[in-house]
Amino acid sequence: FIPLQIQDELSLQNKTVIVVDVLRASTTIATALKNGARAIIPVASIENAVKYASTLEPGSFLLCGERGGKIIDGFDLGNSPFEYTEEKVMGKTLIYASTNGSVAITKTKYAKHSLVAGFINISEVVKFVSENSDDILILCSGKLNRFCIEDTVCGGMIAFLLTKGKSRKRLNLSDSTVSAIKLYKFYSKNLLKMLRESEHGRFLIELGFEEDLKVASSIDSIPILPIFSDGVIKALK
Ligand code: MLT
Repeated sequence: FIPLQIQDELSLQNKTVIVVDVLRASTTIATALKNGARAIIPVASIENAVKYASTLEPGSFLLCGERGGKIIDGFDLGNSPFEYTEEKVMGKTLIYASTNGSVAITKTKYAKHSLVAGFINISEVVKFVSENSDDILILCSGKLNRFCIEDTVCGGMIAFLLTKGKSRKRLNLSDSTVSAIKLYKFYSKNLLKMLRESEHGRFLIELGFEEDLKVASSIDSIPILPIFSDGVIKALK
């Protein structure tokens, strides 16, 4: 599933939605929460970010996000996980506007649960979902409403881990999920290589963000479970 396909946001009411944006929103959000950000407010546009900021105490928040992979003019932080240090984000509310990831997250506001997932926190996500849900939608943020390989491979890994050991006959997997699992199995031995070869990965390398790909490919390196609820992303304690 990609965000464009969600025509009716209310249809998510009974679902657990897992939003995936490996490069880089999921990775950066998990990093920010690990380093003590109080809350993250995902917004769908730069205008919404600025409007939201005007409702908060000066000094209590940071404006964060990217356009074309680069920091937005006048914002405090871009979208590299390396920018989200303890020193910068501890105790702050982050208003977060990325091109695809934050838009996808805002589309899930009616979901029963909405989780943010990447390779960096995959086991946390799988554990929560297997204990709490059976109607699951994996929402791959993609690139400008198009398919992207890294989110599909990560979605495939999530589905693989959720269905491991269960009889395929009883599971109602969509064709896209079955295909994503196959793609994950193909790339599972070298996720970093897959990221390096991906369209967005190549774009980020050109911009000088090659190290971000290493962070994003590192399985379970940030065991945090970001949950989006009432307009805010927080780490589930
Ligand atoms: C996005 O949300 O579109 C991405 O996180 C873009 C990026 O790599 O900064």
